[in-house]
Amino acid sequence: MVITLEMANNRKTIKDINSITEFKDEALLIAKKKIPRQIRRYFETIVESDKRSREVFDKIFFRQKIIHNINPSTECKFLDYSLKTPIMIAPMASMATMFEDGVGKMCAATDRTGSITWMAFHSREHYAKHAKINPIVYIEKPLEDRTTLLNKLKMAEQEGCIAVGIDVDSGGDRGERWGGPLKPLSVDELKKIRENLSKPFVIKGVLSVDDAVKAVDVGADIIVVSNHYGTKMDYAQAPLEVLPEIVERVGDDIDVLVDCQIRKGSDVLKVLAMGGKGVLVGRPIVWSALIGGVEGMAHLIKLMTQELRSAMLYTGVETVKNVSRDILVLPHDIFRT
Ligand SMILES: Cc1cc2nc3c(=O)[nH]c(=O)nc-3n(C[C@H](O)[C@H](O)[C@H](O)COP(=O)(O)O)c2cc1C
Repeated sequence: MVITLEMANNRKTIKDINSITEFKDEALLIAKKKIPRQIRRYFETIVESDKRSREVFDKIFFRQKIIHNINPSTECKFLDYSLKTPIMIAPMASMATMFEDGVGKMCAATDRTGSITWMAFHSREHYAKHAKINPIVYIEKPLEDRTTLLNKLKMAEQEGCIAVGIDVDSGGDRGERWGGPLKPLSVDELKKIRENLSKPFVIKGVLSVDDAVKAVDVGADIIVVSNHYGTKMDYAQAPLEVLPEIVERVGDDIDVLVDCQIRKGSDVLKVLAMGGKGVLVGRPIVWSALIGGVEGMAHLIKLMTQELRSAMLYTGVETVKNVSRDILVLPHDIFRT
């Protein structure tokens, strides 16, 4: 079903919302009526991998340093783009079908907030118009039909997407909902695809040093350390717990981004201090879009960015680049430090 703003029947106005928890609570009331089938997946942390992602964030604390004259800035670079925030919209295929002009709305929200929209498995009609005017990263599924896969990535490049890639962790998905079966990609297959593309290449769904090294070998420019909000492998590790070893091994060769359970500005600072260059946010974008469309998504990104700036202020961090890991107090049962 396509959800229009009018159907959302808001109770609170966007400006009344001051935390991600409020976004979630408000959105749940709307979603119960409008997207009952998706409710659990988008609103509850049901699977162990997803719980683990949150747990790891919650076990890390900060060393407070507030006696200083630092004025933190959240501005950063992503590829050739100057962003106002390292918080970007994660690729979500169903945004295009759940919301009327979902792709246009996401682009408008990231345009307002100096961020970038990532897109997944959309048809050409969904992104072609927007990719010409907005910086869009396009992520395709690992289609078993490798010719179609490559053609779809090439088309996204031609339409103006700034980078293209594959969520390799969908390789184990069964069923035909993606227009054909999916299959894991080998290093050789990925190399062949990469060689035929000209824009920066992204591999999303890396959760081990092994795969990170292979991504570098393939010639990828960016990896997203992700467990796909716990929907792929049961008992997968949390992205944050594998991030330090991945950064240590490939951090100089490739840009490392992170997603899953990023719900606060302080979560973003934890990722940056562990060596991530930026983050993607998924489900909170669905919640905020349900409540207030473009305005809702923009408010969410701004709110998280303000929280990030506040966390930087309290830890004496001036820029989002090269944040020192020393600001963190790490749990020894998770991190070997
Ligand atoms: C509604 C929805 C649809 C998604 N579709 C895709 C997809 O098509 N391709 C993909 O790589 N990831 C997809 N994801 C995963 C997100 O890109 C991202 O990895 C994840 O949502 C991040 O975790 P978070 O929701 O806790 O922020 C989807 C997530 C959601 C919530």
